[in-house]
Amino acid sequence: MEPYQPLSRSIAGKVAIVTGAASGMGRATAHLFASEGAHVAVTDLDQGKCDAVVQEIGAAGYKGSAKAWALDVSDQAAIKAVVGDIAQAFGGIDILVNNAGFAIPADVAEESYEDSWDPTLAVMLAAHQRMIRAALPHLRNAEHPRIVNVASTEGMGATPGNSPYVAAKHGVIGLTRGLAVDLGREGITVNCICPGPIRTGITDAISEEHKTIYAKRRVPLRRYGIPEEVAHLTLSCVLPSASFLTGAVIPVDGGLTIKNA
Ligand code: NAI
Repeated sequence: MEPYQPLSRSIAGKVAIVTGAASGMGRATAHLFASEGAHVAVTDLDQGKCDAVVQEIGAAGYKGSAKAWALDVSDQAAIKAVVGDIAQAFGGIDILVNNAGFAIPADVAEESYEDSWDPTLAVMLAAHQRMIRAALPHLRNAEHPRIVNVASTEGMGATPGNSPYVAAKHGVIGLTRGLAVDLGREGITVNCICPGPIRTGITDAISEEHKTIYAKRRVPLRRYGIPEEVAHLTLSCVLPSASFLTGAVIPVDGGLTIKNA
């Protein structure tokens, strides 16, 4: 028998970009990665909010570090410039987490549907490929290059009144699979996580009462998840030891997607 091969479960010293990292799951991911010794580029729309997360991470005394960049992922030119800056500042890029997003409800019968369609597809689908393509030259130089795309359980089914978001999230799953196939020969893994209902900025406006009713009816674990629970799945996907995991679509949803009745 071959000797047992220990694989590394450490991201210490790796450079990670997280989009939408000023809040929710992005923020939790930035904290977790820095606590594991990674150097994290905290990117989001507002510089001040990114700075605040970087300050939190600094104050926590983690092994790793963080720096802030304002980045609107719907701005193609900004993506190229900021990803280049990050690679220069940290000396490379090992990990990319495409996480930024928002939710604008959209009624297909209304003119305002178009107001949701373009920004939703720009931020939650086109941006993923643009971030990946901008980071690619740097990922190619990494020892264990990893990409995680944040989709949603809305990428596997649909909630009413939400079809641009549903379309974008289904697209993220397709993009993940397509690029996992294309980049596999270079050892770059591309995986997709599908959070269910999580307590973040996006779900803040839903009352506790409605959260409880929904969770008891739909979620086997009978509650909303917290961002840290999602961040830990993301971490599992970016470990050096996750070297044979690619093109995977992984729910982190308290069992939502497997419950029929
Ligand atoms: P959040 O609102 O707490 O964080 C999202 C962050 O993305 C915000 O800081 C926001 O400023 C940023 N963002 C929005 N547009 C941006 C842009 N154009 N450029 C850069 N940053 C931008 O929400 P959450 O829930 O942490 O969202 C993270 C991801 O998780 C999103 O892709 C969302 O669709 C997805 N998701 C959320 C679920 C939930 O229940 N909260 C469920 C499934 C998926």
